Amino acid sequence: MTSEFDLVIRGGTVVTASDTMQCDVGVRDGKIVALAANLPPGARDVDATGLLVLPGGIDSHVHIDQPNGPETVQADTFESGTLSAAFGGNTTVLPFALQQKGQSLRDAVRDYHAKADGECYVDYGFHLIVSDPTEQLLGQDLPALVQDGYTSFKVFMTYEDLRLDDRQILDVMSVAREQGALVMVHAENFDAIRFLTQKLENEGKTAPLYHGASRPAVVEREATHRAISLAELVDVPIMIVHVSGRESMEQIRWAQARGLKIYGETCPQYLVLTEADMDGADMEGAKFVCSPPPRDVASQEACWEGLETGVFQVFSSDHCPFRFREATGKMHPKARSSFRWVPNGIPGIETRLPILFSEGVTKGRISINRFVALTATNHARMYGLYPRKGTIAIGSDADIVLWDPARQVTLSQSLLHHGADYTPYEGFDVTGWPVTTILRGTIVVENGVLCGAKGGGTFLSRDLPEQAKPRAPAVF
Ligand code: URP
Ligand code: ZN
Ligand code: ZN
Repeated sequence: MTSEFDLVIRGGTVVTASDTMQCDVGVRDGKIVALAANLPPGARDVDATGLLVLPGGIDSHVHIDQPNGPETVQADTFESGTLSAAFGGNTTVLPFALQQKGQSLRDAVRDYHAKADGECYVDYGFHLIVSDPTEQLLGQDLPALVQDGYTSFKVFMTYEDLRLDDRQILDVMSVAREQGALVMVHAENFDAIRFLTQKLENEGKTAPLYHGASRPAVVEREATHRAISLAELVDVPIMIVHVSGRESMEQIRWAQARGLKIYGETCPQYLVLTEADMDGADMEGAKFVCSPPPRDVASQEACWEGLETGVFQVFSSDHCPFRFREATGKMHPKARSSFRWVPNGIPGIETRLPILFSEGVTKGRISINRFVALTATNHARMYGLYPRKGTIAIGSDADIVLWDPARQVTLSQSLLHHGADYTPYEGFDVTGWPVTTILRGTIVVENGVLCGAKGGGTFLSRDLPEQAKPRAPAVF
């Protein structure tokens, strides 16, 4: 007799952002079709006794195979990056399709599809990075791409090749308002960083450690406040990404208290790394160079406060991997002459969930439901994927991770599947581990063994974010 289910996940504890329940999960044609105790056998049954049954992780801030200037290359292809994501308990990733200056946004998107399509182990969509907001881009390409399901875009307030000035940011925000898209903002003050970098170099302070001093919290705080002000002017929601500590977090909290739709994201590096990690001998500190930089223990506490109190909606990895030992990576030929040549970014797609679970849930800082919200549900809501993704509910995609809350693991490069040759979390002990990852009802990783196939992940055209409906141009 054929079963009514292709797959039954049996005997686990199902957790969503709002509920925790003891029930089986029935899956047919890639969708969740039943949630009840004692379901009849499926064509395949998976025993989840003693495990948590969670929505697959959604990592909405990852950089994969992103151009990084002529001299450095990122360490992951879409194949290795999404494999690493799957082993880390994720079923959806949202990398960026970066527009290079002079390139049309349409061409940038086409390039990314050529890199990603048929290569991925988990589902994926693209945010856009706008670096050259021409009339053509603002008037034609960006609105059309939003209609096509690329419903969020990132703007940078720093980096020579990427930064937009305030006028350009306002132009991009205006398009977002009319289209109902969400703008993500990298908030650091470009001129202040240039000023400080020059000063530090003049004083011979060139080691990776000084990367932190070149972009202190005030640089991030000022830009965060300016981004909030620009968004208020246009009256458009924005997401401040990779918030590193109290000063920026408090700007966001202040804006939220005023009723503005300002959202926030933080990342593992701001919870468990500090500036001191950039102080290793023989360039070891380069392994931790990212922007904004990891700060201090008080900043870590502030990020926890933001996660616990709801100032931050999402917890992402900002996975941006470079190989440590290679001249195309952290060992850029000029890296020893100044931190400014060390490529910014660290790997973390596979370690994001274990770090938050262990430091947050196991240590009692956040509930398991908040963990699900921060790592899956809110990403789906913010980026137009809910309720298809990000929850365990009848009709949702059967994107599920079976989680062993008691498994103790020491994080190590040898365990990971990314293309980087190191992890910044080497030797870090975690309790809680993703054992099985299921994408639309198909097992991709089972008990730590790869079962899925490259190309099993498909492109996601996304709806408009819940927070941002299309509106008439602002009247001033
Ligand atoms: O250092 C970082 N975060 N690199 C990735 C690019 C970005 O700004 O997100
Ligand atoms: Zn950024
Ligand atoms: Zn990033």
